[in-house]
Amino acid sequence: MDQPTSCLSHVLIFPFPVQGHVNCMLKLAQLLCREGLHVTFLNSDFIHRRLLSYTNIHLSYKQYPNLYFETIPDGLPDDHPRTGDRVVDLFNSIDTVTKPRFMEMLIARRFSILDRPPLTCIIADGIMCFTIDIGRELNIPTILFRTISASCFWAFFCLPRLIEAGELPITATQLTKSAHGLILNTFEELEGPALAQITNNISKLYTIGPLHVQLKARVATNIKLTCTSSSSLWEEDRSCIVWLDQQPFKSVIYVSFGSMTVLTRDQFMEFLHGFVNSGKPFLWVVRPKSVAEDYQIPEELLEGTRQRGYIVEWAPQEEVLAHPAIGGFLTHSGWNSTLESIYEGVPMICWPFYADQQVNSRLVGEVWKIGLDMKDTCDRVIIENMVKDLIETRKDEFAKSARLMTKLARKSVSENGSSYCNLDRLIKDIKLMRN
Ligand code: UDX
Repeated sequence: MDQPTSCLSHVLIFPFPVQGHVNCMLKLAQLLCREGLHVTFLNSDFIHRRLLSYTNIHLSYKQYPNLYFETIPDGLPDDHPRTGDRVVDLFNSIDTVTKPRFMEMLIARRFSILDRPPLTCIIADGIMCFTIDIGRELNIPTILFRTISASCFWAFFCLPRLIEAGELPITATQLTKSAHGLILNTFEELEGPALAQITNNISKLYTIGPLHVQLKARVATNIKLTCTSSSSLWEEDRSCIVWLDQQPFKSVIYVSFGSMTVLTRDQFMEFLHGFVNSGKPFLWVVRPKSVAEDYQIPEELLEGTRQRGYIVEWAPQEEVLAHPAIGGFLTHSGWNSTLESIYEGVPMICWPFYADQQVNSRLVGEVWKIGLDMKDTCDRVIIENMVKDLIETRKDEFAKSARLMTKLARKSVSENGSSYCNLDRLIKDIKLMRN
């Protein structure tokens, strides 16, 4: 690997401790390290233990000598699910346990140990706005990173009264204005109108997505992809790739509801009926404990599930979406999943669960027209028909618009593309920050 010239910039990256946030912020950490910046990645103890168990993250110690991992408690016991409605407990414990601990660690200069330079910048998850005040008190500039779409950020930004009333599980987005800047994992060509509005309110905006490909594009030229490929908190079951290899071109519907969605038993059954009745092959990620009650596959679905279905607990999703057998993606519309699907040109059926996902599903169905929005219905006949529409009846229509989006996404991360240049600008601005 080309060793970047070392510099005195030291960035602390602090994600909200859930899979979808850690994924893209870890990619940013690696990108900054490649440019010679020192980066401390602050994980919750819980997340870090899982990364060590299920990924090759330890290799990044070798590949990036200027990348350091530190941990902080999230305040919840290990057996807490941290998913579904229970994620509210995580928000509360971050506020009561993690926030004061974070302050203590900064005051004690916990991140400048050994030969690491003092912190010159904090890049914190935008749903932990408390970092702005703490950074200001200690004279360290804070840039916020929101892991949601620009359109959703703008929607949240315009809802201050709902937020103040505590009716959304999201802290005041308006506070973003007092940060030194805002990073969004999106690209200009995808969300131009929302970005134009945000730019009027936030002085320094960096749209640097899709981050998962920005990293691949820059890293591929000089080192093996070993430590960029996964930050999974569950073990990836690679047998699904072998199964996909045996399926016809663009025939399979891939189903995944991300890392936090919890289904009821009834919803699970509606989906299963819909998939089996569609007659299309399906690859379904059913995470441990992601169905709220115990269930058994009914007798009448056993044969159809065995013949056409393949169920895993966790998949190498980026690789799955890039597989030629994939014809569509039934998703909960998490922003990472949406970007990964757009990048691979895979049309979507959206079944949004919560947070930003309703906005994302509407973008997919109504604005970009690269899929169908199931909204909050969960009915076996609708599921069956949508799968058939996506994979068969309306496949050409969706493929055309999906191809266009893919082209734009690829252009944005290639040399001189919008996200490529914005990442360079971010790096330059960080290097100018001095403590
Ligand atoms: C959360 C929020 O729910 C989401 O809406 C927000 O935008 C980011 O944080 P999550 O619900 O987990 O994330 O969804 P998503 O954003 O799609 O992230 C899931 C990630 O897990 C994706 O990067 C996906 O590639 C990965 N994944 C998912 C796997 O690697 N394997 C799987 O089997 C399923």
